[in-house]
Amino acid sequence: MFRNDNKTILVTGCAGFIGSNFVPYFLEKYPEYNVVNLDLLTYAGNLENLKEVENNPRYKFIKGDICNRELVEFIFNEYDIQGVIHFAAESHVDNSIKNPGVFIETNVNGTFILLDVAYKQWMQKPFTYKENYQGCRFHHISTDEVYGTLNETDLFTEETPYAPNSPYSASKASSDMIVRSYQETYGLNTVITNCSNNYGPKQHDEKLIPTIIRKCLAGEPIPIYGDGKNIRDWLYVLDHCKGIDLVYHTGKEANVYNIGGRNERTNLQIVDVITTILDEKVSPKERIGKGSYKELITFVEDRAGHDRRYAIDATKLENELGWKADENFDSGIIRTINWYLKRYDVN
Ligand SMILES: NC(=O)c1ccc[n+]([C@@H]2O[C@H](COP(=O)([O-])OP(=O)(O)OC[C@H]3O[C@@H](n4cnc5c(N)ncnc54)[C@H](O)[C@@H]3O)[C@@H](O)[C@H]2O)c1
Repeated sequence: MFRNDNKTILVTGCAGFIGSNFVPYFLEKYPEYNVVNLDLLTYAGNLENLKEVENNPRYKFIKGDICNRELVEFIFNEYDIQGVIHFAAESHVDNSIKNPGVFIETNVNGTFILLDVAYKQWMQKPFTYKENYQGCRFHHISTDEVYGTLNETDLFTEETPYAPNSPYSASKASSDMIVRSYQETYGLNTVITNCSNNYGPKQHDEKLIPTIIRKCLAGEPIPIYGDGKNIRDWLYVLDHCKGIDLVYHTGKEANVYNIGGRNERTNLQIVDVITTILDEKVSPKERIGKGSYKELITFVEDRAGHDRRYAIDATKLENELGWKADENFDSGIIRTINWYLKRYDVN
């Protein structure tokens, strides 16, 4: 229990990349909230990511599975949960190709459990909230990958039909549909945000940008899938967190908002920028190998079912809620590289 009269919200999966950027931002901005973080600490979760809040009296970490209904019910009762921001998921496409089952379990079933407990805790019956829980909201964090792949010119809008191609994106699309059904059938107050690729501090080593940096520093081949021309729309993680905050507090009930920074880059452009910056930053003395880091770029067999292009149209979020990305890719990537250099003990 917390020793104050604050409102307490449940955030899930915050030992991971985005959640661990979100929680410190949120606690600092809103002294009137307590935050309970429910995270299973899978291979992707790391409490080191949350060092800066671990002693905050308004923060509580609980290790556990979102699929564990008893535990989720206990948390709702014990902490009188008044809102949910749901990050927890299996999130790596490559893993979903090798081992899809856990993606269905966590992303689909886990989301269902959280929704169902929230509904029963907050509402008397469909479309009728209990007196003390009026307005309690369930915010589901999702991805632009639910929309499938794009041609060279179009953008994903909130009206783009779902066409997920990987087990990961299919599991996220399924969870979005279950959220929608709790809104439409029971009147649970929900919002969904679908965001493009994030980058920034605290991302797991397995993802593209940390991999490029790590491989450079280790002097190992940098694996680039296929021809390297797949395009992603990159958003600095804190800009995503700010968008989530805005939608959670001011988004219209039952609405979906796309979040993206209009920073499309091919994987080849990403690896080129990072190797250029590292060539300048890392002194030859500290390097393994003598040449440019660009020499490490190695093309490997393409990912199965690799979507060609994602790009977000964030007009709705910008026009209706006034969101704007503060960071562009050129500034955000330097902050990110600096963070990883510190983490890997370089300079
Ligand atoms: N990273 C991106 O670029 C991106 C973009 C758009 C949307 N998203 C979505 O944002 C959310 C967070 O992504 P991320 O990159 O921070 O993921 P991540 O893989 O870094 O972190 C996921 C966290 O969830 C936890 N977790 C996994 N299974 C769990 C379970 N059964 N019960 C409780 N906790 C569990 C893990 O321990 C980890 O701490 C996900 O829902 C993802 O789909 C991510």
